[in-house]
Amino acid sequence: MLKVNICGVEFNNPVIAASGTFGFGREFEPYVDLNKIGGISTKGLTYYKKDGNEGRRIHETASGIMNSIGLQNPSVSEFIKNDLDFMKQFDAKIIANIGGSQVEDYLKSIELIEETDIEIIELNISCPNVKEGGMAFGIKCDIAFDIVKKVREKTNKVLMVKLSPNAENIKEMAISCVEAGADSLSLVNTFNALAIDIYKRKPIFKNVTAGLSGPAIKPIALRMVKEVHDVVDVPIVGMGGIMDWQDAIEFIMAGSTAVQVGTANFIQPNIMEDIIDGIERFMIKENIKDLSEITGII
Ligand SMILES: Cc1cc2nc3c(=O)[nH]c(=O)nc-3n(C[C@H](O)[C@H](O)[C@H](O)COP(=O)(O)O)c2cc1C
Repeated sequence: MLKVNICGVEFNNPVIAASGTFGFGREFEPYVDLNKIGGISTKGLTYYKKDGNEGRRIHETASGIMNSIGLQNPSVSEFIKNDLDFMKQFDAKIIANIGGSQVEDYLKSIELIEETDIEIIELNISCPNVKEGGMAFGIKCDIAFDIVKKVREKTNKVLMVKLSPNAENIKEMAISCVEAGADSLSLVNTFNALAIDIYKRKPIFKNVTAGLSGPAIKPIALRMVKEVHDVVDVPIVGMGGIMDWQDAIEFIMAGSTAVQVGTANFIQPNIMEDIIDGIERFMIKENIKDLSEITGII
């Protein structure tokens, strides 16, 4: 009843842990049934190990959190060596989230993932500080097109491209990525945001700005999912401030085949189980046999 299909990959249900908020599942295993959740998108992986940013990394706001983790991760090769087998024990589908700062590094990472039996790559094109004019891959359509096309040539796996809400035009960005060969799109990543320590008279984060996630971004993320669903014909995985099952249903109605849950995991580690149960109860009550009946009905 809850099963969803993304480009031939079948998920037991539409609820996936969002990248960077669930690690590789290890820390959550004592609290969450990893056989119950639909999937896990790994912490963003890069070709070279990254220690992450200095200074404050998380800051709580009135209705969300800001983070400046800086893609801390052990590298793709160490992940494959040390963490992949752990993740493979469970029914949750594994999505390899790949980040980077240079095109060449993305391509080298893809080559390594290609040798594994992971079925889906989630290409995170929202990282700042890239070589090409210092422009984030996910802001300008032509830069995004170029990297997605190059990655597409390197992989036969399902290629899901994760869009930044900071894109100049989210609809044009979605179209560019699909034209370049994306099989699926996930959105949204965090919003550029600022917090200030008034006594130090300085920004809270060393990088000045940081990424905002959580309930504050939900209505904007929902609008973007709907806009993207209106212009492309590939499965969409929606996220941004999903805190309960009703939020998840909203994202499905706006056009998401599946959803990702991020910030909410920090508040209640097993919240995805509640969201899955809530979706199922709603389907029974509303006599919905398959989620495709309500996907994108708005
Ligand atoms: C602490 C933290 C770390 C994150 N790290 C990544 C990452 O490595 N790669 C990525 O694609 N997204 C990353 N994200 C973004 C989330 O996957 C998600 O897109 C965003 O938080 C919006 O969903 P939410 O409001 O449910 O948290 C991170 C988010 C947070 C809060």
